Amino acid sequence: MNIVDDAKIVAQTATKTLMTNLVPLAPDSWIPGGKPDPLITHKHGLIGTPVSRLDGAFKVGGTARFAAEFPFQGMVYAALSYSTIPRGRIATLDTSAAEAAPGVVLVMTHRNAPRMNPPAVFGSSSTAVGPSDLPIMQDDRIHWNGQPIAVVLAETQEQADHAVTPIRVGYAAEPSTSSFETAKAEGLQPGMFMGQMLASETGDPDTALAAALFKVDHVYRTPRHNHNAIEPHAATIAWVGDTLRIHDASQMVTATAATIADVFGIPAGQVYITSPYVGGGFGSKGLWDHQLLGAAAAKLAGRPVRVALSREGVYRVVGGRSPTEQRVALGADADGHFTALIHEGATVTTAHNNFPEPFILASKSAYAADNTRLGVKVATMHMLANTFMRAPGEAVGSFAVESAIDELAHELGVDPIELRIRNEPETDPSSGLPFSIREVEKAYRDGAERFGWTKRKATPGARREGEWLIGTGVATASYPYYRMPGGAARITLTRDGRAKVEVAAHEMGMGTSTTTAMVAAERLGLPLDHVEVGYGDTDIPGAIMAGGSQQTAAIGAAVIAAWNDLVAQLLKLAGNDSPLAGLKPDEVGGHDGGLAMLDDPTRRESYGSILSRAQRDEVRVEANASPPLELMHWSMHSHGAMFCEVRVNAVTGETRVSRFLGSFDCGRILNSKTARSQFRGGIIMGLGLALTEETLFDERTGRIMNPSLAEYHIPVHMDVPEIDVIWTDIADPHTPMGAHGIGEIGITGVGAAVANAVFNATGKRVRELPITLDKVGAFAAA
Ligand code: MOS
Repeated sequence: MNIVDDAKIVAQTATKTLMTNLVPLAPDSWIPGGKPDPLITHKHGLIGTPVSRLDGAFKVGGTARFAAEFPFQGMVYAALSYSTIPRGRIATLDTSAAEAAPGVVLVMTHRNAPRMNPPAVFGSSSTAVGPSDLPIMQDDRIHWNGQPIAVVLAETQEQADHAVTPIRVGYAAEPSTSSFETAKAEGLQPGMFMGQMLASETGDPDTALAAALFKVDHVYRTPRHNHNAIEPHAATIAWVGDTLRIHDASQMVTATAATIADVFGIPAGQVYITSPYVGGGFGSKGLWDHQLLGAAAAKLAGRPVRVALSREGVYRVVGGRSPTEQRVALGADADGHFTALIHEGATVTTAHNNFPEPFILASKSAYAADNTRLGVKVATMHMLANTFMRAPGEAVGSFAVESAIDELAHELGVDPIELRIRNEPETDPSSGLPFSIREVEKAYRDGAERFGWTKRKATPGARREGEWLIGTGVATASYPYYRMPGGAARITLTRDGRAKVEVAAHEMGMGTSTTTAMVAAERLGLPLDHVEVGYGDTDIPGAIMAGGSQQTAAIGAAVIAAWNDLVAQLLKLAGNDSPLAGLKPDEVGGHDGGLAMLDDPTRRESYGSILSRAQRDEVRVEANASPPLELMHWSMHSHGAMFCEVRVNAVTGETRVSRFLGSFDCGRILNSKTARSQFRGGIIMGLGLALTEETLFDERTGRIMNPSLAEYHIPVHMDVPEIDVIWTDIADPHTPMGAHGIGEIGITGVGAAVANAVFNATGKRVRELPITLDKVGAFAAA
């Protein structure tokens, strides 16, 4: 089967061309021959130590204010009514009972909503973060089942929730495409992701596959997934004249403000967003209809509005991961070297969205193979726009590829770890670039030893304890190192030897604010409790998205830029009477509450002393991060080796994960406590992907049928074993702090590690997620 038949398209991106032109402007740190971040060599400070989250006490104590907890004077509460057909028009709409309901202030529909520009869709410009380019409540058209058709504002949330129930709608339905199969039959387009074609070909993979001594060729399927952050999406919104103030739950305040400003036709500087605490994002906490409708209703009512989506509301309004169908074909010679690697297939998106699940991304750099074809084709459906969901692409793509490699290892009779190591590439197979670091083999060797891999029985079904069949499996985890342009930082250093570091970044619970404080304290040579971190606020310059596992690197680079300015200013202020006199900025570092010469720390002066002599209370600097040119010179990725042990019930086919180990190669780890938690969280989400998570989509009506945590199954404590996490801690000399992103890699590879363990336990190969008991089946009695 060849789903993608004309994938010979060379990936040539506008971004890449732009970046190539920028190379001559490169700062020395990020290009070959440049100096690595000096913090990489700080081995005895805060970096790498287990520091508890600085925001932990506020959250546990209930004083951390989330988006739906900010009050505004005279605020009203919103509830949304959602369409129940996938496509057509609103023919009749009776809101009179809602308007007459107790406490109701306003009912907004397409008839009375203020005029708004359609939001520019994510990726169409550097600040565009619209989920789609559809107009928001501007006409009677319905584009997906669940589209908001009315907003009720009332004095209390309960009154608003009650008042949406008597809204009566009659629809003039139009033909719609609500099934993946139909959508595929209607036509597939080449996939694009962030301006890049999702297709490439080298050599002659079909001929190589046909000629291969050993081969596997199968189709793997992954379902639709919905976002279930613990904090449902919410925003508290007030107009102050022509200025909009929003307390949002956001992974991207700067760009969200810019897009909202465009929608309402006001200057970007007139939308202020704060987002100090976010209860999980995973890619979903961007701009959706609820913020725009909340702001529109606030304008119409002349009162501030709180819009807090119900759990069902999140399923209706916030997109998730789209389903995939992936063919993986591998050919190998007698030694197990890959001669052909084909990874191609289809996913689905909407006509107004540009986010197909890019499941081939990891395959571009994963294995050495002379003949490859990678491709994603996209079908179109009438549904809610899909979006980023933790490791978009890699999470589900790695299920297919890493399962296929396990299948090939079984065919060859080679240990699956050895097969992977034999196919480790020297340089990036798609770009030809050297890897900045690549310690996949070490991650496997360390993990194998820790996990006790050698005790494994290669023959499936060979271990049994009573009703339980026991098996182990491995898979490779990988996720790229990114650093997006646009980052900036502000540092305010005061005479009392304290600093405030501000970045327009986000704390979603992963520990960013803590790690930022640690890194800044280390860079400035201050104690941790003398550094305050500001974030999640459009008053801070720059834009740092909490996405793509790039936030820590982006913050790091911005803080380095601001620090360089700060050092230059301090040396100027220090003048000729200082022990630092005559030193150049790159000869000094932050040390023990002041600046010190790197080669001779006895030449030092404290910040307090410099500022006092200069009669200054504070110094404030603001700087933009250097462009992310490291990405032009190296192929940069986080890696991991995932080890899983399952117990499969021979009677029911139920799979229980009994042990899990993640062995990671993610550069220098900055905070061992929050990092361990990030890895574990990703792995737990991966266990959900492997075993339980599935959006049930009614293919007749395009309706999501299980919009609740009761029916959409995410892992609970009983589903999660003790998860062991180790890492190489080998710094990447080409990144800020030597660090790589760790937010998304944890979910990658988990689906395949579980599936491969299930095969080892039972001999049953499940190629369709989630691995539910009906797919595993029952086995002979002992
Ligand atoms: Mo992530 S899916 O980039 O928040």
